[in-house]
Amino acid sequence: MFFIANWKMFGDLRTLNSLDNVIKFSKTNKNKFKLIYCPPNTLIRPMSKRLKNSNLEVGAQNCHENDDYGAFTGQVNSRMLKNVGAKYVILGHSENRKAGENDNLINLKIKSAIKVDLKVIFCVGETLKEKKNKKTTQVLKKQIEKGLQSIKNKSKIIIAYEPVWSIGTGLIPKSEDLIKSVLFIRSRFGRKSPKILYGGSVNSDNINQLKNIKSIDGFLIGGASQDPKKIIDIIKKTYI
Ligand code: PGA
Repeated sequence: MFFIANWKMFGDLRTLNSLDNVIKFSKTNKNKFKLIYCPPNTLIRPMSKRLKNSNLEVGAQNCHENDDYGAFTGQVNSRMLKNVGAKYVILGHSENRKAGENDNLINLKIKSAIKVDLKVIFCVGETLKEKKNKKTTQVLKKQIEKGLQSIKNKSKIIIAYEPVWSIGTGLIPKSEDLIKSVLFIRSRFGRKSPKILYGGSVNSDNINQLKNIKSIDGFLIGGASQDPKKIIDIIKKTYI
């Protein structure tokens, strides 16, 4: 199972001390899980040093669409992220879509990440309005088709299904709706389906319900991932 810890715009150098317990836990735990921390860019380098010799990995939360260097004030590209130790990058997150990223831009970003050999955690998901209007599958289809347009080799792609209305709200989809969406996403890929994760308000209470959905390959965790106790608890409960 995959667990992606999305720290969003939280964390400083001191916060890295909280990783020690998680490293210890991962070493003593026999369950094979992949835990990938995606901190703000400022922490990628110090975090990857800290996680050296552990089985935890580091990713970033976004990148510029141009993988080459250039005059783009305030931007960071996939090549730079790779250079400081990132192995993954989250792209298409709804918080960035809301800030103006469209499917075409996300497609370029995904291509730039693949070009430098970063694995991509590609976020898709419907808003509450789209859900109410029964547009979920239509939205997922469009986001996947446009986001992955003309990308032949999808071996570097992991999909994170994150209903926008469940992010940071404490709400999660009904199991039957979640299964339906995950299976729909899978059906878009034929035999070579990528890993499909669920994200949105995952916590140590609702993990008991979520882990029973066998079509899910892991979780993208925001708020709860900044607390080492909570992330350890979520992982433990996934395997009980
Ligand atoms: P949340 O965030 O777990 O705080 O809902 C998930 C995400 O935005 O990736």
